[in-house]
Amino acid sequence: MTQPLRLGIAGLGTVGIGVVKIIRRQAALLEARTGRPVVITAVSARDASKDRGVSLKDYAWETDPVALSKRDDVDVFVELMGGHEGAAKDAIEAALATGKDVVTANKALLAIHGQALAEQAEGAGRVIRFEAAVAGGIPVIKSLTEGLAGNEITRVMGVMNGTCNYILTRMEATGQGYNVLFDECAELGYLEADPNLDVGGIDAGHKLALLSSIAFGTKPAFDDVQLEGIQRIQLDDIRAAADMGYRIKLLGVAQRTARGLEQRMTPCLVPANSPLGQLEGGTNMVVIEADAVEQVVLRGPGAGEGPTASAVMGDVCDLARGLRIATFGQPAETLQEAPAAQTGLPAPFYLRLSLLDKPGALAKVAAILGEAGISIDRMRQYGHDEPTAPVLIVTHKCTRATLDAALHALEATDVVDGAPVALRIEEL
Ligand code: NAP
Ligand code: HSE
Repeated sequence: MTQPLRLGIAGLGTVGIGVVKIIRRQAALLEARTGRPVVITAVSARDASKDRGVSLKDYAWETDPVALSKRDDVDVFVELMGGHEGAAKDAIEAALATGKDVVTANKALLAIHGQALAEQAEGAGRVIRFEAAVAGGIPVIKSLTEGLAGNEITRVMGVMNGTCNYILTRMEATGQGYNVLFDECAELGYLEADPNLDVGGIDAGHKLALLSSIAFGTKPAFDDVQLEGIQRIQLDDIRAAADMGYRIKLLGVAQRTARGLEQRMTPCLVPANSPLGQLEGGTNMVVIEADAVEQVVLRGPGAGEGPTASAVMGDVCDLARGLRIATFGQPAETLQEAPAAQTGLPAPFYLRLSLLDKPGALAKVAAILGEAGISIDRMRQYGHDEPTAPVLIVTHKCTRATLDAALHALEATDVVDGAPVALRIEEL
């Protein structure tokens, strides 16, 4: 009989239990598709006494994930614990050192240590797969490394954090504020253990760093991703964007430019009638632009038990079939250092300022923008009961660096209260 592919699974939370369920439910289908049985030999989590809603009695239990990763009866170490240091990193390194292939959903770990882990894996003739780490159930890594392998990728962009998209779309649909919807996400169990990873754009930034490495043949460079979260977005911004025919999205964009590799994960205005503008709730979307295929749009669930376990199983099945692709789509030693673009391409920006209601205040704002060479396209001031009034401005195209200098100057005046909000308007 053909040798089974034997898995050791560390982490039996949302994703780990989803994987166990698929393997139990679809044993015959998996064997038919890969030509060999896919079995679990051992599992690990912190609490052996926890009822996880599925029987684990057929599998050996290891309290220590590193011990699990080194077992002789494990061919593939499946890391589903999370965290970019500690147990996950130690266990993956131990698995590679003892001749195991690795499947993981851990975007934080790979965005930060991916290059070193890929070099270790390839040095040992092993493979690391991580489809579940980016955009949940969407097979975006497979699309980039396999289906689009004959293309030069020009731009990758997308909405890659379901929690942020849920908050932003529910703000528009319900008229509820950011704080109310943040609490709703907590109740629904959507938030990462550290919610700042979601709303601060960090989780999505990790995902973008992984995609740009594959797309552009560069070493993953999370520290070079320009990051901004959604915490300062208010209903005023959502409504003003809608009035102008836009929606606000936490948008990731990675592209090679003459100034270096541009990677940003920031809240942006996108046309409401574009595919990205129409994306609702926790759904993710990745848009890939390339020389031959032109544009591919991938849309699907970005998180949750079933979708994420589905992506893990795609990787497991590839290994069962003998498919072996370098971690980032080409040998780790050939990945280039890419200088980070210091400033993005010029774009129009949406600004919200809190302006003291006194004579000459608007004139001061207009003068500072004018002196910076920033031309105003539209401006609106709302009625108010406070000593400050929200003023919304849309600029003509300028660079973010020019705008930042002007925003600094505005903050230093006696008419602008607090830090202005500035959102790029992305024409797709
Ligand atoms: P989770 O529900 O919090 O589960 C984590 C599991 O890891 C738990 O079973 C926990 O054990 C175990 N664990 C944690 N530290 C451990 C340690 N030191 N030793 C042994 N076991 C340990 O997390 P999750 O949502 O399944 O996420 C797992 C990974 O998938 C993360 O990297 C996450 O970023 C990624 N991911 C998740 C989703 C999603 O929708 N949830 C989507 C994409 C990617 P106990 O149960 O005993 O506490
Ligand atoms: N917290 C992540 C999200 C989970 O909201 O998209 C999937 O990576």
